[in-house]
Amino acid sequence: MTNAEYRRLMDLVEENLVGFLPEVDHKSITLHDSMAYSLSAGGKRLRPVLLLATCELFGMNPKEALPYACAIEYIHTYSLIHDDLPAMDNDDLRRGKPTNHKVYGDAMAILAGDGLLHSAFEVMTKDMLLYFDQPEKLQHRAQAAYEIARRSGVRGMVAGQVADIESENKQCSREMLDYIHLNKTAQLITAAVMAGSALAGISFEERKSMSTFGEALGLAFQIIDDYLDVCGNQDEMGKPVGSDAKLNKSTYASLYGIEATVQRANELLDRADEIIAPYYDQAEVFHAVIEHLRGQLK
Ligand code: IPE
Ligand code: IPE
Ligand code: MG
Ligand code: MG
Ligand code: MG
Repeated sequence: MTNAEYRRLMDLVEENLVGFLPEVDHKSITLHDSMAYSLSAGGKRLRPVLLLATCELFGMNPKEALPYACAIEYIHTYSLIHDDLPAMDNDDLRRGKPTNHKVYGDAMAILAGDGLLHSAFEVMTKDMLLYFDQPEKLQHRAQAAYEIARRSGVRGMVAGQVADIESENKQCSREMLDYIHLNKTAQLITAAVMAGSALAGISFEERKSMSTFGEALGLAFQIIDDYLDVCGNQDEMGKPVGSDAKLNKSTYASLYGIEATVQRANELLDRADEIIAPYYDQAEVFHAVIEHLRGQLK
């Protein structure tokens, strides 16, 4: 992603991501190293950037939202570490580097994922403790943490991962595929914009349109991820291609074919674009994300 506004927020995330991790005892330094390994391996930082961009769009200083931005990237990174494990997608490359379990072993990779997940809630709740004498700000923070918890949990990302695993080697219905995509990926992307919206304290109507935006963008994101698993390039993505076919996963490409996949992704991106259009040049980061995703479909 080369857009300067995106980069500015991404740099803010990069500068703080490892530093915001809770300190660990020296006796468990391997835990810190394995968490830091996956966090530092790169990645587009899409979710924390969307969270910060949403705060900024609605008038909040993004620096104040950093604990929540780091938390959502911890949760995303833990989900990737676990997703790559031999018992799940069994992939060897992530963010252009050997996957966590290839370097630290399966047991430590599971624990690094656990560590990142708990760190997310530690940094968010620690931030909330600073606002006990400011009820409105505290309420916004609690709402942001709730959006992240709910959408990444058993009614969100984890549920989607369960359905994804259970649908391997089966002819899954189109309805089930939508359920998988919506939950395993679109929910965390929606959590990013909804946490940003909560922190900035925007109106119910604005929140509703941001959640529709997040869902459209998130669904397009996973459909494009499926498309790139067929038509993409390992060097550009930093992860293997052909992983879905190898595991006989149900994907948009396998159920609908490539042409319909491209069309559906573009329709969803159009929808996201329409929702964000009224904000014109104030929504530059969102436009840049949409155009970047569109560009991957060529
Ligand atoms: C990969 O997400 C997992 C999916 C939900 C498809 P990203 O493509 O955002 O991965 P990173 O963070 O840039 O590595
Ligand atoms: C991963 O979906 C979604 C989560 C990690 C929650 P995929 O399995 O398609 O992601 P990649 O292709 O390995 O990045
Ligand atoms: Mg997977
Ligand atoms: Mg995978
Ligand atoms: Mg994939």
